[in-house]
Amino acid sequence: MNPNFRLDGKIALVTGASSGIGAALAAGLAEAGAKVVLAARRVEKLQGNVEQIQNNGGEAMAVAMDVTDKASIETAFDQAEATFGTVDIIINNAGVADPKPFIKTEDESFDWVMDTNVKGVWNVGQVASKRLIKAEKPGSIINVASVLAFGAAFGYSAYATSKGAVLQLTRSMALDLMKFGIRVNGIAPGWFKTEMNEAFFNSEEGQYYVKKQIPARRLGELPELIGPVLLLASDAGSYINGTVLPVDGAHHTALV
Ligand SMILES: NC(=O)c1ccc[n+]([C@@H]2O[C@H](COP(=O)([O-])OP(=O)(O)OC[C@H]3O[C@@H](n4cnc5c(N)ncnc54)[C@H](OP(=O)(O)O)[C@@H]3O)[C@@H](O)[C@H]2O)c1
Repeated sequence: MNPNFRLDGKIALVTGASSGIGAALAAGLAEAGAKVVLAARRVEKLQGNVEQIQNNGGEAMAVAMDVTDKASIETAFDQAEATFGTVDIIINNAGVADPKPFIKTEDESFDWVMDTNVKGVWNVGQVASKRLIKAEKPGSIINVASVLAFGAAFGYSAYATSKGAVLQLTRSMALDLMKFGIRVNGIAPGWFKTEMNEAFFNSEEGQYYVKKQIPARRLGELPELIGPVLLLASDAGSYINGTVLPVDGAHHTALV
């Protein structure tokens, strides 16, 4: 009766796998037995991450993908399919942030954040689910939201709006795709040090924020995201659908 968290025989695609959370999740999925497709725009970085997975005995490949460009998504899925087969686990992780006060946020900044964080999830989700339906395969889609899907923070109006939309998109996709055997869930990470925010968390201001604002008084460690994703991706989570799981040391309970 032990739940099965293994992903042997599964094919997983991770967007934004060139760095940070995406790279860590790709490695974790490979360790759990999935063949993993690493997607992003910086292909050289992807290649390095693929080699690391292969050196650890996993199976992986890199594909160029811009999540704001549907043609590039289709091409990437074609390449993945040709090598590994139909992708049945999709991690919609690619994302950007451009924190600044509401009145200083230019239209271009808002559009960039929304196009990547929301339309990107929409685009990849549609391409992936259409292919799964055509192949008559079940699947699991996991969208990476944020603690800022549950509350706001100073200077994050565009980003928090985008992650709130990811929360609602996750619920909506789950309802519409359920009849095809495709589950859709999300994770909502608290703060983890990555390329996106390392300058801030290396600063005195950032360290002060960690000590004063994060209930756990520390940042998350990237491997702490792997277990939650395996739960949602694997048969262990077969009855979990339409939820976005905070992985944040309770930060979502205490946002100011
Ligand atoms: N770090 C945190 O504290 C934190 C907290 C909550 C949520 N998140 C979310 O976690 C996700 C990953 O962020 P991260 O922290 O790991 O930051 P990161 O290291 O900056 O990674 C962002 C990834 O997104 C990719 N990306 C950006 N725009 C893209 C596009 N148009 N097409 C394809 N890929 C694109 C980047 O790859 P290329 O530049 O190579 O394309 C990169 O691999 C994001 O959705 C972020 O909002 C992060």
